[in-house]
Amino acid sequence: MQVVETISEVRRIRREGQGSWGLVPTMGYLHRGHAALVEQARKENDHVGVSIFVNPTQFGPTEDLAAYPRNLERDLALLAEAGADLVWTPPVEEVYPAGFQTYVTVEDVTKVLEGAARPTHFRGVATVVAKLFNVFQPDRAYFGQKDAQQVVVIRQMARDLNFPLEIVVCPIVREADGLALSSRNVYLTPEQRAAAPVLYRALCAARDAWQAGEHDGERLRGILRRVLTAEPLAQPHYVSAADPRTLAELGDASRGVLLSMAVRVGKARLIDNILLA
Ligand code: PAF
Repeated sequence: MQVVETISEVRRIRREGQGSWGLVPTMGYLHRGHAALVEQARKENDHVGVSIFVNPTQFGPTEDLAAYPRNLERDLALLAEAGADLVWTPPVEEVYPAGFQTYVTVEDVTKVLEGAARPTHFRGVATVVAKLFNVFQPDRAYFGQKDAQQVVVIRQMARDLNFPLEIVVCPIVREADGLALSSRNVYLTPEQRAAAPVLYRALCAARDAWQAGEHDGERLRGILRRVLTAEPLAQPHYVSAADPRTLAELGDASRGVLLSMAVRVGKARLIDNILLA
């Protein structure tokens, strides 16, 4: 496994590696969910590239970029084990040199859900992912379903800007009690950690209702809200029963629905979702 910092080294190794390349973009502090992405990429490509970059442009002014958890040594051990060939760990100036002024803005699908609370977040994500696609030129890029809106935004961008690659989405990896794995789970105290599976319980209750024939969007959102508000440590930011492609809230959810939510538990803002089709 080669670990490099500069764009020119990534490009050189990319050129020398004959055959197909899979890319797994990350912000580090990796967990089993990331390992699953790398393993999937390993199965489907001749070479696997991973980026570790805590991308400043996707953090809002009140979000603590400096406090984002990092552990490069542990990340590299996990990536070697999962089968990465190339890891790019650029310093910020390599990605955003002085004078940088070009951003990628995806319009409608970034205005709702996470984008409503974090208005510049997806501009940062789309910009850095476009740069990663240009630097690595992968045949396939791997993302987790955990960030459901991010997947919608990146698919839209790849389609609109004609990136010649396949976006592969891997299932959410959960703890035994249902909590979706996230680097942000480290912010939870033991008491908050015990409360956090309420997100998945709420999603399962709405999923069960949908499967039993409840296809009214407002009533599905009502179920999510009811389960969440029964947990005193959970402060819901939003609940959603939306069209999986446009992310518009649905009245009639009979043709499929993305159930999602953001919930503050202590210092952590947790998100989770289930896609029903
Ligand atoms: O999902 C993430 O970790 C980040 O949003 C990504 C895709 C690596 C872009 O910084």
